[in-house]
Amino acid sequence: MRLGVNIDHVATVRNARGESYPSPVQAAVMAELGGADNITCHLREDRRHIRDADVRMLKDTIQVPLNFEIAATEEMVAYACDIVPYAVTLVPEKRQELTTEGGLDLNDGVRKLESNIKRLRDRGIMVSLFVEGDPKAIAIAAKIGAQAIEIHTGHWCTAMQKLRTTPEAWRLIKGLQEAAQVGHDLGLQVHVGHGLNFVNAVWMQLLPHCEEANIGHAMIARALFVGLPQAVAEMKELINNPVHRPTQGNG
Ligand code: PXP
Repeated sequence: MRLGVNIDHVATVRNARGESYPSPVQAAVMAELGGADNITCHLREDRRHIRDADVRMLKDTIQVPLNFEIAATEEMVAYACDIVPYAVTLVPEKRQELTTEGGLDLNDGVRKLESNIKRLRDRGIMVSLFVEGDPKAIAIAAKIGAQAIEIHTGHWCTAMQKLRTTPEAWRLIKGLQEAAQVGHDLGLQVHVGHGLNFVNAVWMQLLPHCEEANIGHAMIARALFVGLPQAVAEMKELINNPVHRPTQGNG
């Protein structure tokens, strides 16, 4: 499974003091050294962490693909069409939220979303939609032209944290497994992301056809203690080495 490293929180630390450091671009290079398969950043409308100049610098500096997360607004889609990242992940965005709270509402304004997907794809950008693990939403994503889905794992992560028994965990992972299978059967590339950490990420090994996990906060947090290349290498190992794959005996 590819590991996409989200470096937004490096910019959060930088902006907290209005300094020029730590640099998210430097962080992306360190993440690459640790084995990052792509770099993810989210340019929010309020520019609370990543800024426009960061995105351009990232695009010019990193060797691995850039996965550019944006809201499906006119401003952001035009910006993405201008810089042409490898991939765009369209996410819902609310001003007051601490972080992205859920997948896109695909019952609302889908026609506009469809035309934005077309615009991005016409520029040669791969388009992924951040969705809940709901077969109906995944079917709409495929219908309106997305090439990939990123299944929102946030609610699953919260629920996992509250569980106390392994049978419950095995029941809980079923929803994500089914969602991944539905996405694959519809011809979509399947990604996951949000809330994944050094405890729960091993479960992603059980998702059929899942090609990519996008992870930020937990790895940037761990990097404070072990450095970013090591944090990235450890996470790649957790999501790929079969030794860590939960089994009915040890999960
Ligand atoms: N994927 C998407 C679509 C996101 O919005 C985020 C958070 O910016 C992430 C993955 C990474 O989430 P986390 O920081 O919880 O690992």
